Formats: sequence, C-alpha cells, structure tokens
Amino acid sequence: MALFDQEASTYDNWCNTPLGSFVDKVEKEWIAKSAQPQVGEKAVDLGCGTGIFTIWLAKQGLDVTGIDLSSEMLAKAQEKAQREDLAIHWIQADMNRLPFDRETFDLVIGNIVLEFVENPEKVVAEALRVLKKDGRLVIGLINKESYWGRTYSQKGKDNPDSVFAHAHFYSEQTIVSWETRHFASLDYGLFVTPENFENENQALELEKKLSRTAAKNQAGFIVARWNK
Ligand SMILES: C[S@@+](CC[C@H](N)C(=O)[O-])C[C@H]1O[C@@H](n2cnc3c(N)ncnc32)[C@H](O)[C@@H]1O
Repeated sequence: MALFDQEASTYDNWCNTPLGSFVDKVEKEWIAKSAQPQVGEKAVDLGCGTGIFTIWLAKQGLDVTGIDLSSEMLAKAQEKAQREDLAIHWIQADMNRLPFDRETFDLVIGNIVLEFVENPEKVVAEALRVLKKDGRLVIGLINKESYWGRTYSQKGKDNPDSVFAHAHFYSEQTIVSWETRHFASLDYGLFVTPENFENENQALELEKKLSRTAAKNQAGFIVARWNK
C-alpha cells in the first residue's frame, strides 16, 4: 500500500476550505509564473496525487500525463478528469525511475513531492533526463525555514501516522545545490499564515503586500526551476 492511498478520499477537502483555497491559488500563481505553460506542450506532473495541477495544465491546453505511486490518488484524479471530459494520461509509476524515454517533455512539474522521496536530487536528475532540450522543470516545495515548514514538521512529530512523519523539508540553500548545472531560479510565495488569515480576499491582498516587504526566507512556498 502506498503512503498516500489512505489520504485519497479526503485529500481534496483542504482545497475546499477558505485557507486551503487561498493556498491553492498562491501555489498555482507561482507555479504558472515559473513554468509558463503553453498550449500544445507535452507535460508531465510528477506525484500528481488527485490531479490538482494535472487537470489545471490540461485545461490550459497542454497534453498532460500524471504519474503517482498511489493507485488510490490516481483513481481519484482519473474520476475528476473524466467528470470534466479531459483527456489525460494517468500512469502508476515511481518518480525515481520514470517510464519515459529521454527528451520526451517540454515541461515537467511536481508540487510538494520531493518532500516524500529519499533522494530529491536524484529525482531532479531523472526529471531532467525526460525533458527535451530547452524544456523546463518546475517544482513547488514547502520552505523548511518558514512557519508552514515548521508546522508540517511538527505535525509529523506529533502524529507518526501522518504522511508528514515521512516528509523531509528543505531550505533554499539546499534546493539551489541540486543539479546546479541546470538550476535557473527560485520564486517565493505564501507569506500569509493561518494566524493572519481572515478570509480569501483579505489574505490575497496581504500576500501581495508581504511578498514585497517580508524576508524571502519567511515564504512558506518555494518554486524552483531548472532549464535543460
Ligand atoms: C503531497 S502529495 C502532492 C500531490 C499533488 N502534487 C498536489 O500538489 O496536490 C504527494 C504525492 O506524491 C506521491 N508520491 C510520493 N512519492 C512518490 C514517488 N516516489 N513516485 C511517484 N509519486 C510519489 C504521493 O503518492 C502523493 O500523491
């Protein structure tokens, strides 16, 4: 049984809460800025889970594949895509060993996935292998040094049954040390925390302000990009 199988039935509930919906918007905004998805491109979403980002890319006209270790998460993703009549390829596979030829994709993305593998730099290298020349690899991560990183890390310590008990969090210094030959940029978002969240509109306004004024290392979300 894969780690996330037991999460599949409730995973999307978070996005339907006001705070979860805000976080989802912030994550997509920063992934979009970094990834610049283009109509007709071939993309793969590593650790696609219930397809939140896979479906988002397919709706923008990309030819998308979602891969995940968990058959339950994939089943949920497939069900959602079918409901929306979206043609997406779903594959149960391990992102450590991608079942694709080298230089297959224009864009590889993965959101909150390197936290759950043993060797993230190896996955970055494997993702670069399947990228075409001039392709982009864009990965969203929880910043270890932030309020969000500390909270999720504590959740894992408090509850050994939680998926966070199996997660590893990284700081920007570590992320920039992976595959330095191809490393391109970091973007920072999610400065709002549950403590200063009132409602979605207030939080989006506050997020705009904090992204200009707060120290980058306080961002809860880091988006890293590598270019092939
Ligand atoms: C936190 S969820 C993120 C899901 C999705 N990317 C999102 O943002 O909603 C992590 C996902 O990574 C998947 N995963 C973990 N290790 C994996 C691996 N080695 N290969 C493929 N998928 C993996 C899990 O099954 C889970 O669905």
